[in-house]
Amino acid sequence: MSLIEEIKSRLDIVEIIGETVRLRRSGKNYIGFCPFHHNVRTPSFAVFPDTQTWRCFGACNTGGDIFQFIMRRDGTTFAEALRLLAQRAGIPLEPRTPEAEARERERARLREVLEAATLFYQHQLRQTSEAEPARAYLAARGLTSETINRFGLGYSPSAWHALIDSMLRRGFLIEELQAAGLVVIREDGTAFDRFRGRLMIPIRDSQGHVIGFGARALGGEEPKYLNSPQTLLFDKSTVLFALDLARAEIRRTGVAVIVEGYFDVMMAHQAGFTNVVAALGTSLSETQLRLLSRGLKRLVLALDADPAGMHAVLRGLTSAREAFPETTLELGPHGLIRFSGQLGVDLRVLTLPEGMDPDELIRRDPQEWVRAVEEARPVIAFLLDYLAAQHHLGDPKGKAAFVREIVPILAAIPDPVERDVYIQQAARMARLNERVVLEQVTSYRTSKTRVRTRRDVPLHTMSSPSNKGAESFESGAEAEATLLVMLGLEPDLLPYVNVRFAELGLEPLSEEDFLDSIHRALFRNLMEFGPVESWAEEETDPQRAGPLLRALWMERLQRRAALLRGFDPEDERWAEEALRLALWIREQRLKEILEDLQALAESVPDWPQDEFMAKWQPLTEALNQVQRFRYRRWMIDSSISATARR
Ligand code: UTP
Ligand code: MN
Repeated sequence: MSLIEEIKSRLDIVEIIGETVRLRRSGKNYIGFCPFHHNVRTPSFAVFPDTQTWRCFGACNTGGDIFQFIMRRDGTTFAEALRLLAQRAGIPLEPRTPEAEARERERARLREVLEAATLFYQHQLRQTSEAEPARAYLAARGLTSETINRFGLGYSPSAWHALIDSMLRRGFLIEELQAAGLVVIREDGTAFDRFRGRLMIPIRDSQGHVIGFGARALGGEEPKYLNSPQTLLFDKSTVLFALDLARAEIRRTGVAVIVEGYFDVMMAHQAGFTNVVAALGTSLSETQLRLLSRGLKRLVLALDADPAGMHAVLRGLTSAREAFPETTLELGPHGLIRFSGQLGVDLRVLTLPEGMDPDELIRRDPQEWVRAVEEARPVIAFLLDYLAAQHHLGDPKGKAAFVREIVPILAAIPDPVERDVYIQQAARMARLNERVVLEQVTSYRTSKTRVRTRRDVPLHTMSSPSNKGAESFESGAEAEATLLVMLGLEPDLLPYVNVRFAELGLEPLSEEDFLDSIHRALFRNLMEFGPVESWAEEETDPQRAGPLLRALWMERLQRRAALLRGFDPEDERWAEEALRLALWIREQRLKEILEDLQALAESVPDWPQDEFMAKWQPLTEALNQVQRFRYRRWMIDSSISATARR
């Protein structure tokens, strides 16, 4: 029995859910009001003891097993839910390695150092006369004392050893202060405070632990902001400032706004716009988007109107012009579009009035901010206009340059309908025939994803995915594991599958397509953190379920090794196989939901017919789509393999 099964078998889902939801027995199932959305009229939440699962048929439209329930209830990751439930079931989890424990101790120590330093700086700001100009500065910028406290602002004295002296007295070591990025040690071994005479803005991780500082000059000194250097805890390309304070509101509304500056964030929060975070003066990275991605529906990038200031989105464009490849750290516009499409996030760009930043706009009139956020434009529309303005579309050279830049962006749009609309629009803007642009986009897409087919590999030398197909899997879990491993080995497969799903009018593949809890968690990790190599080494940040899921992934990989022998991400047939598996899994999932729905309808005799049909119909339509498509492909494949055998 696997660990998961063991835990499930020892716990009773009805009992555990019954602790938070008042459940009423109804036949062999239990029903109640859904704890995850506003639901008071008819119960939309059901627990199925037979399968040890639950499902909400209301607004959440989601379900799962006991692990998914705990994850949703507590807003935790799979690893945390596993820990909690294992404990309840009385099953000990593997202890950590000594190395991991040592590293964890070091991190914990650095957190203590930073926490103590934060208190020191805060004390300076509040109590010392030296900090008077800093207090005056904050007042002049319109920050209330409540905001100053909420963000934990402080002041670093201008002396060279103020922090050092205070921290050494408290038993911290100079090496620890250095490791935390707070002091600089000279060649000769003497040390001095890194931050002097500045306003100290603590930067926290998503858990609210201080990991570094942004330190603003109070006069005209350079640099205006001095940030903590990279440390064991701090990497500015992976942090979003104020995410700890913004997380709840972002979850609640599904909307996040990214601005550029510390003061922009603080002013927004002060005015009640608590879904605002900042990237610390860098272009956006995948990690940052992933930090936000859970439950995110819309992401608004607030950019300065001044073209040079639009770097958050456009820096990547400049580098593309200079023929530098996008790094994994900095998402250029194509990366942003592809990635947000992959995550199902609606990406928008908000342009501020010339010469204004969010801080000033909000101070002038908070309603203007509300309007600006509401009127933020879809990123592609924004980029089309921006690029059109950069080129002389009247002359052929200008047109060509425009098309060259716009094509990769258009090609990155995962939704085919949306892609088409923008292709038309781009063609109209450049006064070109739509076919010209379409051809460019198509050939760009092909060169990126499809040219990989190697016709010279005979079908039978591979462990022949298309002959066996998903039909031969004994269980859904097998199909799920195989698909997952493929997705983990080749990051481009998921967008491919999702594009094909979209063509069929199907929702993108989601963790809920997977029935197995571990598979869901693995899929989520793949979505949030990319390939397994980039998963955390340690279980330190609860947002990143590292070693545990790594180990589980490796285990699945090994078990699938034989089946995946011959896996070649360059071979188109494997992409087809991934699609086939994904469709099969979706089919199983749709069937399962329909069954649950029926069971629920039987349990609740007074359930209005139209309400039932409203849920039933889209599900059966999707199921029909999947089945029609799978059947058609199966016909084609059989004829191909018949030809190949001849
Ligand atoms: P800006 O220079 O646009 O300043 O930097 P701002 O946020 O409007 O600053 P205020 O309002 O004058 O205080 C935007 C962001 O870029 C980073 C900081 O994160 C800053 O908030 N930055 C800027 C640096 O890291 N170092 C610098 O020297 C300048
Ligand atoms: Mn500013």
